Amino acid sequence: MKVTPLSDALGAEVIGIDLTSIDDPVFDEIHEAFLEYQLLVFRDQDLTPDAHIAFSERFGPIETRPDRPFTLPNYPEVTVLSNRLVDGEPMGVISAGDFWHTDLSFSEIPCRATFLHAREVAEEGGDTEWSNIYTAYDTLSAEMKERIADLKGIHVFDRRRNKRAQVDTQFANKADEVYGIPIPDAVHPMVRHHPETGRKSLYISPRFVVGIEGMGGDEAQPLLDELFAHQIRAEFRYRHKWQHGDLLMWDNPCLIHIGRGAIKPPGIRHMHRTMVLGDRPH
Ligand code: OGA
Ligand code: MN
Repeated sequence: MKVTPLSDALGAEVIGIDLTSIDDPVFDEIHEAFLEYQLLVFRDQDLTPDAHIAFSERFGPIETRPDRPFTLPNYPEVTVLSNRLVDGEPMGVISAGDFWHTDLSFSEIPCRATFLHAREVAEEGGDTEWSNIYTAYDTLSAEMKERIADLKGIHVFDRRRNKRAQVDTQFANKADEVYGIPIPDAVHPMVRHHPETGRKSLYISPRFVVGIEGMGGDEAQPLLDELFAHQIRAEFRYRHKWQHGDLLMWDNPCLIHIGRGAIKPPGIRHMHRTMVLGDRPH
């Protein structure tokens, strides 16, 4: 197994691995590389849903929300992201992450790692981009670190309550149904300690964080705007152009990401996704 960095910001490509047959020593090496690079790319993976689930589960329990739309038949663990139309209806989520976010941060127990497998890729469009929020934290001024040290962000699932995130066009005519489900807000420290490395990250995102606990909007919103702009400085980022067979896994406590969309017709982008739960942010 060979590990080659993808950028100065984050990410590495792992070469020489077939994810359907890894033993414990290889798993340990993958795990170590994951902690070092935050995002790993495995090329040319031919994964059944069972194999995709089996690899994901080595990192923790898979999240299955009963009301999650577009899961694979008989596999509530696997969500389909796809712009393919069947009888005029998309067969998956078309744009799963169109604003900067970290997965499931609206939950009390958010997602630790996401595993996304490209089964079909479009010639143009559909890139995904990540930004390193370890680095975002590390590069804050000493004053800012002190100011936010004990602050908590309010993470909200419902896009209708977030002026920085519009309702997806795919769900425009059923926004109440999709975003009105009763998911309580989650309150998480803005400075999060990674469950394994202990490193601090700036754990907020414009998609989910709408306010700061105990702070009025006049103070909180400009502070959030400043931090959101800082989080996505170009030098913290890596943008991935997907190839058929790519399996990417990323570490949500220390990265935020965005789906760039803009798939050029008639391109089809078809992915399978699993998400593994982690710790309660602290
Ligand atoms: C996700 C996500 C982005 C993309 O699946 O969590 O943010 O480019 N996807 O598909
Ligand atoms: Mn996401």
